[in-house]
Amino acid sequence: MKRWLLFLSGFLVLVTTACRPTPPPKATEIFVVTAVPTATPMPTEEIAPTEVLRVMTPTAAPRPTDTPQPTLTPPAAPLDRITQGKRLGRGVNLGNALEAPREGEWGMVLQAEYFRLIAEAGFDTIRVPIRWSAHALKDPPYTVDEDFFRRVDWVIQNGLENGLNVVINMHHYEEIFEDPAAHRERFIAIWQQIATRYKDMPDNVYFEPLNEPHGNLSQDSWIRLLGDTILAIRRIDNRHTLIVTGANWGGYSGLQSLRLPEGEENYVCTFHFYDPMLFTHQGASWTGTGYQTLGVTWPGPPATPVTPDPEAAKVSWVYSWFRQYNTYPAETNPAGPKPIRDAFDRAAKAAEKLGCTLWLGEFGAFEQADMQSRVNWTKFVREEAEARGMSWAYWEFGAGFGLYDRTAGRWREELLRALIP
Ligand code: GLC
Repeated sequence: MKRWLLFLSGFLVLVTTACRPTPPPKATEIFVVTAVPTATPMPTEEIAPTEVLRVMTPTAAPRPTDTPQPTLTPPAAPLDRITQGKRLGRGVNLGNALEAPREGEWGMVLQAEYFRLIAEAGFDTIRVPIRWSAHALKDPPYTVDEDFFRRVDWVIQNGLENGLNVVINMHHYEEIFEDPAAHRERFIAIWQQIATRYKDMPDNVYFEPLNEPHGNLSQDSWIRLLGDTILAIRRIDNRHTLIVTGANWGGYSGLQSLRLPEGEENYVCTFHFYDPMLFTHQGASWTGTGYQTLGVTWPGPPATPVTPDPEAAKVSWVYSWFRQYNTYPAETNPAGPKPIRDAFDRAAKAAEKLGCTLWLGEFGAFEQADMQSRVNWTKFVREEAEARGMSWAYWEFGAGFGLYDRTAGRWREELLRALIP
């Protein structure tokens, strides 16, 4: 249900976005990245053997490169994946900027001062969602636009100069969720270009192959594509840590089916968490009719029952969710602490099996929820993550879930304190 609702909402977002007037292009500061010193290699540590399965590469499929080279041999002092995962610490997503069809179309243009503000507030990491697919040729060799690459260079450079770890992802490649086979070669070719461009970056730059795989990119096809992409990246860059997720929207359930190519040791596992969606996404334009009931508080039950809006009430699971939310005691309430604890326990178990550190790469509550509930939920989720040794990145810095009020030019203190006490 959530899947098709989100799928439908994705479509609605596309339509809404397409209908939105495009603001005049904003001049952006562009810097070319000059040689960045590579951080001192970290000492090698014994790593527990992990459960890895060989990812079969379909031989009939065309390879993105004409003359495939063997995967590079691992570096003499490889990065320790547990340390690399912990290093991500506390982070924030620079959402709604580079993953919009064009930066600025969703009202967010990254500014140099944001990086300083984020570092000064005590964050360790920025995750940079990027819609590469909107900036690469549709046909071979699928060249990524040089101006766009320079913009990403600038973002990475600003992050590093402010002492932040930088996670570069692939976000909103909507076409691959529709037709994975048709986009496989292009997806890998884009990653080859990213790896080529950033292979000499310091060790605190991370690559995250894909945000929230879903749709026709089913579990099996995603694991195959991920494996092929990793092998392609490793022919170019055998240094940087990869951030990997399971299918099914990158939730904790997808982690159970995550598999990596044999020999791949340098990865952090990630999942996203927004439960209960009827609380975190209430009133969000892209989530569809089931999610338009406002006034949902966290934790439940509410002081006075919340009546689902007439459209939401027609969706049977939504109707029964509200019935439970309004009447069940805290211990069993669907907007209570227990479902969150259970989900995090399951995620932690899956990560243990995979032998990786978990990075909660997205979590957050939309601005339509009341501030006290957002603070309650955010603090609780952050504490549950930290209690299980997870690093995290809040969704997001300055838009609809925003920690920072860009109009007023100040942090939303309560929300920030829920993350960094
Ligand atoms: C996912 C989506 C992003 C959305 C966020 C919260 O990351 O890709 O666009 O804003 O979740 O719903």
